[in-house]
Amino acid sequence: MDSFVVQGGRQLTGEVSVSGSKNAALPIMAASLLSTGTTTLHRVPHLVDVNTLSRLLHELGVRATWCGQSLSLHVEREENNCAPYEHVSRMRASICVLGPLLAKRGNAVVVLPGGCNIGHRPIDLHLKGLSALGAEIDVRHGYVFAKAEKLRGTQIYLGGPFGSTVTGTCNVMSAATLAQGATTIESAACEPEVVALGEFLISMGAKIGGLGTPKIEIEGVDELTPTTWTIPPDRIEAASLMMAVAATRGRVTFANLDIDHLTAVVDLLNQMGVNVVARSQSELIIDSTQRLRSVDVASRPYPGLPTDIQAQVMALMSIASDTSTIRDFVFPDRFMHVAELERLGARIRQNGDTAFVAGVPKLSGAHVTATDLRASAALVIAGLVAEGETIIHGIEHLDRGYERFEYKLNQLGASVQRVVSQPEKRAA
Ligand code: EPZ
Repeated sequence: MDSFVVQGGRQLTGEVSVSGSKNAALPIMAASLLSTGTTTLHRVPHLVDVNTLSRLLHELGVRATWCGQSLSLHVEREENNCAPYEHVSRMRASICVLGPLLAKRGNAVVVLPGGCNIGHRPIDLHLKGLSALGAEIDVRHGYVFAKAEKLRGTQIYLGGPFGSTVTGTCNVMSAATLAQGATTIESAACEPEVVALGEFLISMGAKIGGLGTPKIEIEGVDELTPTTWTIPPDRIEAASLMMAVAATRGRVTFANLDIDHLTAVVDLLNQMGVNVVARSQSELIIDSTQRLRSVDVASRPYPGLPTDIQAQVMALMSIASDTSTIRDFVFPDRFMHVAELERLGARIRQNGDTAFVAGVPKLSGAHVTATDLRASAALVIAGLVAEGETIIHGIEHLDRGYERFEYKLNQLGASVQRVVSQPEKRAA
């Protein structure tokens, strides 16, 4: 397992360009299964999760070829419809192949993704939506077996106890594109990644309306054709880097982002006393000159503050002027990073889905362990402002979702060194 050695206390300055979005790329890659032939995607981030999905798609008859940041997916065979444990257990987003396989090939066998470090993550809403479309679904031996000769359009309510479901909406919307007749998804997720998938499907010939609203309407078509598409900017990477700049009281120009996707983040930073200047739709400046102010916020489905930056916001709160609170309405158990931030001197009390963070003037470097993807980014942010050296173990989590993160930070003046782990030698 690689680790990062972060020397704290350096201000970030300069310019940075945001990569393509992981959470848009994954369902779009899975949706390539809906056509036969070659789909080409531009600005795909080089990430472990993207490689994991490429390997799963390979099992399903899809050959992936890279050319720089472009990824071509050639659907060559359609006999194997089984997504096995070894792939799905590595990455929950593998569940995104379920809807496309079912709709295009008439059956799918996908292992249950199980829980993960950010809490219980059921797929009941995915299955409810696909059943409503007429699929026969059976869950046994840890697998979902889904089949349907022809899916039929219908009205589906996809809301759950924690709001809408992002990948659930992706699965049901993808499947409905090839169903007979019209489908309406109520309480659909409005996240930009769902919109990106919908627009990609439209470019394949799908008929979809209402993207970005809780009511998505789909008119089924007989077939979809392969297309060429560009992955939108990663709003979570952008937000994470924006927080890193804010924490170090730096000044950085961001290029290649979509400001409309970052409204809640910009509002939060403004509340904390950070100056955010929009230069265009795709460019902004973060200018942070003073100690951050405390805030009370909650993460919610889009357009609310994303749960995927809850940990990074907590890192900022750790050095704010007073006591802040942050509540996670989407993943109420997503607090594994609390204990690690405490090792760096943060003062946090967690109660259920809420953390109370008493800001301290300084954090102090320590050994910490990344527990999940976004927690890793939070620890890097905390390390950037901690006194002395912070060693972050478990960087494999970060590599799943941040493209060249340490390179980007170092370009801005940070000191983040990767220590590549040596395979342990076994005693004879
Ligand atoms: C997506 O996960 C993202 N992953 C997550 O990002 C993100 O945190 C999450 O959406 C919320 O924004 C990808 O896009 C690949 P959900 P997803 O279904 O789709 C409950 C990251 O760090 N729920 O929208 O799996 C669920 O337990 C990752 O990049 C049900 O109850 O999340 C949660 O409380 C982590 N039943 C809430 O809904 C279901 O069938 C939202 O989950 C499905 C979900």
